[in-house]
Amino acid sequence: MDNEIDQENSLLKNIASSDLSSAGENGEAVKKLLSELDGLSYKVKIALEDVSTLLDLDALESLYLGKKSKLTEIKRELGGLDFDARRIVGGKLNDLRQDLSGIFKIKRESLQKDELQKQLAEDICDITEITETDLYGHLHLVSQIRRELEDIFLGLGYEIAEGNEAESDWYNFTALNIDPDHPARTMQDSFYLDLGSDNSLLLRTHTSPVQIHLLERGKFPIYAVCPGRVYRRDTADPRHLPVFHQIEGLVVDKGITFADLRGTVEVFIQAIFGSKTRTRLRPGYFPFTEPSAEFDITCVICQGSGCRTCSGQGWVELGGCGLVHPKVLEATKVDTDIYSGFAFGFGIDRLAIMRHNIFDIRALIENDIRFLTQF
Ligand code: PHE
Repeated sequence: MDNEIDQENSLLKNIASSDLSSAGENGEAVKKLLSELDGLSYKVKIALEDVSTLLDLDALESLYLGKKSKLTEIKRELGGLDFDARRIVGGKLNDLRQDLSGIFKIKRESLQKDELQKQLAEDICDITEITETDLYGHLHLVSQIRRELEDIFLGLGYEIAEGNEAESDWYNFTALNIDPDHPARTMQDSFYLDLGSDNSLLLRTHTSPVQIHLLERGKFPIYAVCPGRVYRRDTADPRHLPVFHQIEGLVVDKGITFADLRGTVEVFIQAIFGSKTRTRLRPGYFPFTEPSAEFDITCVICQGSGCRTCSGQGWVELGGCGLVHPKVLEATKVDTDIYSGFAFGFGIDRLAIMRHNIFDIRALIENDIRFLTQF
């Protein structure tokens, strides 16, 4: 700034010491114009001190150097002066214009620097706020619940069985006593794979085929669960996905009864949803269990008193279960005089949306980071 003031002072001195004697008969006019230029220079200097934004600086520059400025007006008046007067005033005017332009330029650069600093300070991104979880991501909600379920069943002494996502007709249907006319067997309901000659390979429509693999293995007793993906020709809607997850349970041992099934359902549901949640079995039908049941849990939102989520029922359906059908045991050459068993299966995605009161099951596959990071 001192530099600018020095510049300004030397400019004014130059004007004051101008040789006015050569201005001829326009002497008075010249004096007036020079003193006006003089005054302008001071005014600009004072005004500049109050300017703190680039916008104000632009306005000030156009006021003093623009087309309608005093400077331009004086320039116009030069036309009425004689040659010498024009030379003196014109020379000073040009010097003043140049010097003022220089002062504006310096001021502009300094304001630009200030504004940049201000913007940088505002835009500062505190990277210490980014936690490890944000940086590395985490398991999807469905995977989290799947692992939780595995832990619960491991704790009950179960093994985790691996199934296959592509199964033959035998494992997915026939051995499970699903008759040839069952609608699930049609092309409309299942995804068949165009592999091999008989077209009997399909993407499993449930995790129950793992029951057959476990029974065929012939190692008893069996206490196993198998979580995994299943596929159905459904259009995605708030309650359905064409690809989803189930967990299958199979217990085969000596003397297994329906009471064991009942107790097991109660235990694992309370382990998942907490001890306040109750369960109930309703008669149901599955070709591979007899008797069969659907199992319900008290609504996690209203705890059983009835709300919109459970349509006022207080209960919501979770899965299917039953005693392993003798035909399934026979198909896998298990001695039904020694062994009996139960099986159950339910949807993991369904459990996820119930537990977290998620309105639309499709949120699970949309990969919206705002949804995913909530779990
Ligand atoms: N597989 C059945 C389904 O997908 C569920 C089930 C499993 C029912 C085991 C009974 C026993 O709906």
